[in-house]
Amino acid sequence: MPSETDKQVGATVPAGPGDAAGPGDAAGREAARHPVAASEVGEAPVLLAAAGVTREFRIGETRIEVLRGVDLGLREGEILAVLGASGAGKSTLLHCLGGLDRPDAGSVRFRGQEIFSLAERELSRFRNRNMGFVFQFHHLMPEFTAEENVMMPGLVARQAPEAARRRARELLAEVGLVDRAEHKPDELSGGEQQRVAVARSLFAAPALVLADEPTGNLDPATARGLHDLMYALARRHRQSWIVVTHNSELAALADTRVWLVDGVLRREGPAGGAGGRAGERAGDISG
Ligand SMILES: Nc1ncnc2c1ncn2[C@@H]1O[C@H](COP(=O)(O)OP(=O)(O)OP(=O)(O)O)[C@@H](O)[C@H]1O
Ligand SMILES: [Mg+2]
Repeated sequence: MPSETDKQVGATVPAGPGDAAGPGDAAGREAARHPVAASEVGEAPVLLAAAGVTREFRIGETRIEVLRGVDLGLREGEILAVLGASGAGKSTLLHCLGGLDRPDAGSVRFRGQEIFSLAERELSRFRNRNMGFVFQFHHLMPEFTAEENVMMPGLVARQAPEAARRRARELLAEVGLVDRAEHKPDELSGGEQQRVAVARSLFAAPALVLADEPTGNLDPATARGLHDLMYALARRHRQSWIVVTHNSELAALADTRVWLVDGVLRREGPAGGAGGRAGERAGDISG
């Protein structure tokens, strides 16, 4: 319902046009010329709406309630950073939002469609078309080149190899790695490997990219460069991104920051960090 979704998390702390690209990052600088204006993000329709998402795990007698009713609204073109302590459930949440894991209760709607009403096969197709994933470890296939890794989603979707290869080249150019196209993952630096993983996640031009600590294994300068690039790409393609990160400096580049605390999302961190009003639940869509 539009009147409800309007109340969900919006771009409360918009990034300025120049914020998306870091110095010395040509790909980032180029992409940052096409930013989504802050006001555009604020007015944009809701892309993803989660309500009352709960997830628990049982190991023997032990029950771990990880998500206890997560509510979230993400707009088209919005970059949302999710922060929280280790073990708070950030990865679990990302998996539920991306349809990789089914919550025990609650709903996740993508452009109004309840994704968990889809059967496994349709859900998988839906994911491939609409969502991109970037993980902490790049999960590139070691025996394939950068280009082959990036074109893999196309081959899996039975695209013509030449079309998939063209698309992969285009994406490698976007992440500034055309001259590494023939390198295998172990012939790339950690930062380059992650840029290949980002390129691969964008293959289907997904409306939503979910990134789980994509810079967790990189040194601070490389991490900063990758975040700048990701955010610049998000702006250029008007994509929504949900980025889990432990790094509050990097999270500050996002439009919106939320903290996963005690199984729910909040607008403010445990120590009262930047980003919002104390104690307010993020994306409160009740009422
Ligand atoms: N498949 C599973 N089976 C049982 N328990 C699990 C499973 N997956 C996660 N958990 C538990 O759920 C809790 C949340 O895990 P999760 O990986 O979502 O945390 P996180 O916030 O991503 O942590 P980190 O920052 O360390 O990556 C943890 O206590 C973890 O042990
Ligand atoms: Mg995690």
